[in-house]
Amino acid sequence: MMHNKLLSWYKTHGRHELPWRNTDDVYHVYVSEIMLQQTQVKRVLEEFYPQFLEKFPTLESLSQAEEADVLAAWSGLGYYSRARNLHASAKLCPQILPQSYHELLKLPGIGRYTASAICSFAYNQQIGVVDTNIERVLKRFFALAFEGEKELYKQAENFVDEQFPRAHNLALMDLGSLVCLPTNPKCHECPLAFACKGKDEPELYTKKEKKMYENMELFYGICQRDEKIALLQSVSRMYKGMLELPFVEPVEEDFIAAFKHSYTKYRLTVKLYKIEEVAGEVVWVAYDALQNAAISSMTKKALVLYEKNTKGKQLG
Ligand code: ADE
Repeated sequence: MMHNKLLSWYKTHGRHELPWRNTDDVYHVYVSEIMLQQTQVKRVLEEFYPQFLEKFPTLESLSQAEEADVLAAWSGLGYYSRARNLHASAKLCPQILPQSYHELLKLPGIGRYTASAICSFAYNQQIGVVDTNIERVLKRFFALAFEGEKELYKQAENFVDEQFPRAHNLALMDLGSLVCLPTNPKCHECPLAFACKGKDEPELYTKKEKKMYENMELFYGICQRDEKIALLQSVSRMYKGMLELPFVEPVEEDFIAAFKHSYTKYRLTVKLYKIEEVAGEVVWVAYDALQNAAISSMTKKALVLYEKNTKGKQLG
């Protein structure tokens, strides 16, 4: 009865239009889950998922791509190791992804969540899935305020509908994101409220995440020749394979502009300086090729600001 209520709610209220729910292509499901790990549905849907699959429609096409092109397709999404791992997995199994949870776990960038999500959403296997939304639903429903991941997966596993495991997990996910909200959950709309053990104290089951931000100032140099900008291969682990502007020591009279940018836990103030020379192995990227380059949102922002700034000056 519980399962019937949940599934019938999902039929009426679920987000069935999401394209990764309307495919049985494992690779498409895989790409969506990796993108959705740290990025909101709306952005993935509008800016990245269709574009990425148009460029790399199959696992095999991804396996044959250059890493720089994969990173370019990921440009602006952040957490670029996701793209490098996706590419590395494609190279390991270019024909088809494994069908077992344990084999999936062996691939780079695939952890417990992604492996179970692929098994459930692509293969319709009877397996529990726990993302942050489902976690909240389960914790409330079974009154598991202080349980760890292991116990949650056990509960998720026991709870899975035998007949419709995929719809069951998607229903829990949507229930978490549309009804069982972190604060002020809409219990009156919830198909499981009648049996929910956490209904009277919903806040007890909400993770209180303290966001710790770090402020940082970064100084970049912009070196322009004709219509090209000097970029360097990043030496940081986080941005491996990406192109970025060269770091510089700030020289006040060469100051161009500044802007603020947030990335993961960093609150950055980025300052741009005009420079004439760049040491190291420079990659000259033409302005109109920047859209297809492996650069971060921050670098894009910097270049847009620079362009606006110099054009303004030339006009004036
Ligand atoms: N549907 C399938 N997986 C999803 C996810 N991770 N986020 C939102 N909707 C999904």
